[in-house]
Amino acid sequence: MKIQIITLFPEMFEGVLATSMLWKASDRGIVEYSYINLREYGLGLRHQVDDTPYGGGDGMLLMVEPLLKAIETAKANDPGAKVYLPTPRGTLYKQSQAKQIAAAAEGMVIICPRYEGYDERITEWVDRQFYIGNYVLTGGELPAMILIDSVVRLLPGVLGGETSTEIESFQDDDVNIEFPQYTRPENYDGRPVPPVLLSGNHAEIAKWRAANSQSA
Ligand code: ADE
Repeated sequence: MKIQIITLFPEMFEGVLATSMLWKASDRGIVEYSYINLREYGLGLRHQVDDTPYGGGDGMLLMVEPLLKAIETAKANDPGAKVYLPTPRGTLYKQSQAKQIAAAAEGMVIICPRYEGYDERITEWVDRQFYIGNYVLTGGELPAMILIDSVVRLLPGVLGGETSTEIESFQDDDVNIEFPQYTRPENYDGRPVPPVLLSGNHAEIAKWRAANSQSA
């Protein structure tokens, strides 16, 4: 799966995509990350990518032309790819969508807006607009990383052999809080592990875990 990121700040991704499972996924050839630096498609000598909003208002907006050129470049690399735009104007991103995207296994092009936003006309070339929570961030890079992390970990071969996807939280759209887990030592400074977990009685353990998972 090709994952192409359109951003002014590719360096923000370096640590995240080069660490742990996201790195392993690319090392194993399951995904291929690449960056399209929006600045390269900026206009004029200064490679301008933003301009003031019509109608007035604070801040600058990303212009349609550099964004569209960047999207076209990404689509030329991967014609079947879907285009994602993190924006508070989208719909809330959920685990069920991560599953759909991972199952479809189509390439991803992720646009990372900056400044006060983008020219709305760009959305004609966007397949999915999403937001990750009820708070406002300074740009689309962090939502892009969250999208990537949540999808890549579900791709076959990434988590290799783990059954954790069976028990994890947020299984569907329901909030399904995972049960608490413990590892050694059995007693840490007067804080014991619940005895049932040490009992070896799998039926009792399953019952305890069910009782200690919460749904809302
Ligand atoms: N851009 C700014 N805030 C955002 C959020 N919460 N989710 C997605 N994109 C954003």
